[in-house]
Amino acid sequence: MANGNENLKFILNGVEMQTYVDPSVSLLDYLRRLHLFGVKNGCREGDCGMCTVLVDGKPVRSCMVKAVSVHGHEVITVEGLQQNGKMHPVQQAFYETGAIQCGFCTPAQMLTAKALLDENSKPTEDEIRDALNGVLCRCTGYVRIVDAVKRASAMINGESVGPVEVLQKTLPEDLDAVELPAPYYRKDDFRGVLPPLVFTPASMSETQFIGKAQKKVDGVKLAQGKPAFADDFRPDGMLFAALLTSPHAHARVKKIDASKARALPGVHAVLTYEDLPRVHYASGGQSYPQPLPYDQVSLDNKVRHVGDRVAVVAAETPELAQKALRMIAVEYEVLPAAVDMLDAMKEGTPVIHDEEDVEGIYDAKHNVIYHIDEEVGDTQKAFAEADHVFEGEYRTPKQHHGQMEPHVCISYWDEDNRMVLRTSTQVPFHVRRIVAPLVGLAVKDIRVIKPRIGGGFGGKQEILLEDLCAHLTKATGRPVRLEYTRRQEFISARSRHPQIIKFKIGVKGDTVTAVELRLIGDTGAYASHGLTVQMVAGLKSLTLYNAPNSHFLCDVVYTNTPPAGAYRGYGTMQCLFALETLMEEAAEKLGIDVVEFKRKNWIKLGDPMHLAEKLGEGRAGYAQTLTSTAMEEAVRIGLKATDFYAKREAYRKQGDSRKRKGIGMAVVIHGSGIAGLDMGAATIKMNDDGSFNLLMGATDLGTGSDTILAQIAAEVLHCPVEDFIVYSSDTDFTPFDVGAYASSTTYISGGAVRNAAEMVRKQILEHAADMLGLESIDTLEIRDREVFAPDGTSVTYEEIGLSSLHQQNQHQIMATGSHISYESPPPTAAQFVEVEVDTETGEVNVERMLMVVDCGRVINPITAGGQVEGGMQQALGFVRSEDTVFDEKGVMVNARLADYHAYKAAEMPMTDVIFVQTDDPSGPYGAKSVSELAIDGVAPALVSAVHDATGVWMRELPLTPEKVWKALKRNGN
Ligand code: FES
Repeated sequence: MANGNENLKFILNGVEMQTYVDPSVSLLDYLRRLHLFGVKNGCREGDCGMCTVLVDGKPVRSCMVKAVSVHGHEVITVEGLQQNGKMHPVQQAFYETGAIQCGFCTPAQMLTAKALLDENSKPTEDEIRDALNGVLCRCTGYVRIVDAVKRASAMINGESVGPVEVLQKTLPEDLDAVELPAPYYRKDDFRGVLPPLVFTPASMSETQFIGKAQKKVDGVKLAQGKPAFADDFRPDGMLFAALLTSPHAHARVKKIDASKARALPGVHAVLTYEDLPRVHYASGGQSYPQPLPYDQVSLDNKVRHVGDRVAVVAAETPELAQKALRMIAVEYEVLPAAVDMLDAMKEGTPVIHDEEDVEGIYDAKHNVIYHIDEEVGDTQKAFAEADHVFEGEYRTPKQHHGQMEPHVCISYWDEDNRMVLRTSTQVPFHVRRIVAPLVGLAVKDIRVIKPRIGGGFGGKQEILLEDLCAHLTKATGRPVRLEYTRRQEFISARSRHPQIIKFKIGVKGDTVTAVELRLIGDTGAYASHGLTVQMVAGLKSLTLYNAPNSHFLCDVVYTNTPPAGAYRGYGTMQCLFALETLMEEAAEKLGIDVVEFKRKNWIKLGDPMHLAEKLGEGRAGYAQTLTSTAMEEAVRIGLKATDFYAKREAYRKQGDSRKRKGIGMAVVIHGSGIAGLDMGAATIKMNDDGSFNLLMGATDLGTGSDTILAQIAAEVLHCPVEDFIVYSSDTDFTPFDVGAYASSTTYISGGAVRNAAEMVRKQILEHAADMLGLESIDTLEIRDREVFAPDGTSVTYEEIGLSSLHQQNQHQIMATGSHISYESPPPTAAQFVEVEVDTETGEVNVERMLMVVDCGRVINPITAGGQVEGGMQQALGFVRSEDTVFDEKGVMVNARLADYHAYKAAEMPMTDVIFVQTDDPSGPYGAKSVSELAIDGVAPALVSAVHDATGVWMRELPLTPEKVWKALKRNGN
């Protein structure tokens, strides 16, 4: 014992350690205090597995055991996997197969895989999935992770493993002639992992670096567990902050006494609403000017949801910060709460935003923030003239993002007295602009650094911690770290908007002549993305069938629940679920084959998008037409791969057996950035050795955008991706970009990179012409980092770099390119889902998900495939299990990962991706977006499959066994 600490002797990553340790310190905190930042904190509740380390070769959740418990044992963290400078086969395999997306779960997945392979070097697929079941991944759908473990197994057993490749096939003009490699038919329930399959029309041009399975540019450091994330950094003198949140859904803060907390030795600041100026803002990280209302202040004297901000403290240790929180005495006047969105709109409802200093609320007395009413054509007349009118009402849940890295921010003054915010954000430039007035600093006095991000999915497109962190640094002069607990992720961060969706479809013959969408969106306690999510929902869903008479009516409503915000799918996935379900119901009632009915009506190449001008994002939009689509090809390939019609025929003969199979399909579209609003920029600079710095404001959240943007630059400059030092993003050093949202990165930021690269290419040619003594660049050619004259003489990039910087016509070869588009070309896709329903329990077992995707030119099939696989995983949770549940007082009853069912490795069905390339005229090399589209199709296809199996239409998600069982009983099953 020394100062109450216990002796701890153990072996850590092969090195004998002897020290004294506080017996109350967890192994997680102990290891991170040693700067072993590869050990991640995801929940501190033993639910997520991010903190997994090996103790005597067995996976252990380090948050659940004390450091003293490893006395006499051997501990291995990811930092100990590498031997003699060589990555362990597991690390190598994860890097090579594309198993790493955000990389936050990667150390835990790899250590778990190592433990499995040490015990069983040739595990089966089921054994791999069972072993990985304790470590959640929110990005990948586990497909490439399972593949990586198999590859590592082969490497360990001395089997030869070739380069990871994707399957490429030419798309025949006659779609009936399309043949898939045998495994993609999944005959005899074959369960193995398949690589993405890419169909390319013969008319598309060849590319050198685009379209290849390029390994991620940040893959090695993530495989090695390097300190790459926001919290993997400890400035000297850093204080630990903690946030006091409201226990009430609706209350006034009558009195707040922080004197005892302030008096605690080691507590450096306690801030309440009495300490901060009342500066209004909107927390959604969007372009200037953000839509009104600006309905938040950093700390308020009223709380509007359980989890709302009350006070924030900074102290020497996390434990002391928590103790200080407990010593803040708050007297509340508890007010009636409106938890349900329909109740919140009624006469006499509690008014959630009754403050007088907020502008821009449509009808504050009924908690209606926005009312949207946009129409093209004459919908009522078209309904009156229709042969048939179909209507349906649908409800969708308040899904939680569940990204594995909690929100975290570290703030500090730099040596020039500028405020630095190192934060886990999707929108560094919006953070800088929005936080500046809140903390009384000029925009130029703030620097925002976005390191690697452990997933975001829209949840980090929001200003949640940065203002409070900066306030504490201002108050103390010290660096401050503020992180949400996992419970706060559920109750204080953002979620998907729950929606009540009513579609009405008018049909004449087999043509959809009119569609009306009446939507109520619940934005929770603050407006955030309330307006834009619903506008996008209206635009995208009404554009799918693009009726000439389309009407969008929408109310966006406050409730006393945690605010909703941006979440992948952005309103569209909810409304497409409703629309596609009603379309199939209509087809069934009309006696028309569902695919024929949809095909007859879906938007076609060259069609004007009727509502595009009226529904922009928070403002009017721009006229657009559909410039590329492979909807027909995607549907035809999906029908073939799933043997759709034969299965539907066979399932009709199942009778009333207990377990019934079904197959469903849906078609979906999305967008690529926000037309006329999203702007990205990139800078490329040549170095002495002919390499380049690629500096981008774009924000890679784990999507692989840094890699695909480098592939675009490589394509223009004819040099490998490895020649680029890629950096994103830092508001001091990288050019502006709106950030990662609205499916804009490939399309908008990719356009910026292409523009920058083309300017640099021209400068390279000009300098080469000088060096070669030529007047013109017209006859020069670039091949493999070298510029050739017609006579065969040449100069290499290295020679050009050295010459331009040191010798001849000295100047820096560099350029900054920007890009904005007045179009947002929709990617299109067909989704197929196969299920088995247990009619006695209501359990729906999903057996296969297949998405056939047109995202324009596929820049990197592995990273794009990963986006689709992970998107389907999140969509599956949305349909089957993921909901945040509140009691009548507005308290969330399942605010931990153990109670919120996100899909685990062993629960996932077969998850397949096929791409059909198109060449969109406005996208960089023909590319469109992929990430949000990926989440849009599973809900309607799965509901269609359940109907195919049981005859029941499910209209409210998620499809819990109880709901399905009740619906079956109502239907007489
Ligand atoms: Fe697994 Fe992101 S790669 S959580």
